[in-house]
Amino acid sequence: MKKITIAIDGHSSCGKSTMAKDLAREIGYIYIDSGAMYRCCTLFCMEQGLINADGSIQTDELERRMPEIHVSFQLNPETGRPDAYLNGENVEKRIRTMEVSSHVSPVAALPFVRAAMTAQQQEMGSKGGIVMDGRDIGTAVFPNAELKIFVTASDEIRAQRRYDELVAKGEEANFDDVLANLRERDRIDSTRAVAPLRQAPDALVLDNSHLTIPEQKQWLIDRFKERI
Ligand code: DC
Repeated sequence: MKKITIAIDGHSSCGKSTMAKDLAREIGYIYIDSGAMYRCCTLFCMEQGLINADGSIQTDELERRMPEIHVSFQLNPETGRPDAYLNGENVEKRIRTMEVSSHVSPVAALPFVRAAMTAQQQEMGSKGGIVMDGRDIGTAVFPNAELKIFVTASDEIRAQRRYDELVAKGEEANFDDVLANLRERDRIDSTRAVAPLRQAPDALVLDNSHLTIPEQKQWLIDRFKERI
């Protein structure tokens, strides 16, 4: 059976990755978390001193050094999910901190960063059989994807989920900071000039504010079965 391309886009912390990972595992497709790729670029900037004290980015220097950024994924046998690697080093934990979250949207808005990541994503999905989640997968990366989903949930519910996730990992977190960060990221992601966060006209919308993880998983599997 022909393997299709599945694009899952939506707002920050709406559970896209959980849905996408579960679906990919269930149907034997490759899963790519495109947000992790922008987070890797951001970690690179932080570690290389390319973010100034006022939060601005040294864009000329970053553009010059883009060829030094190589992002890849490897299955973690313990979690059964792929971990992100930056230049061969497992950075899965380090890219999920609040500090990375607070810098990632401006980095992801830079056109040359998007061009580099989009090219890598298109290469990863060139043979189909992929579930990719992000903000612009159905609109810019794979506009011809056979199945496109746009996920959303209320701001407060999304912030609570992200807060619980950080606390469970032992990170210090403050609910109001998490909520403010999420709203700010949505604002930047939706208003940037290149490939802003948008619902593709042919995407199916899922508001999962009041769905459990098993319910949303089933919803997605049903949409996949309909499509193939
Ligand atoms: O999904 P996430 O929260 O890990 O994404 C991190 C950031 O990367 C998010 O603020 C927006 C950006 N992003 C993007 O611009 N395009 C994508 N395809 C995926 C993420």
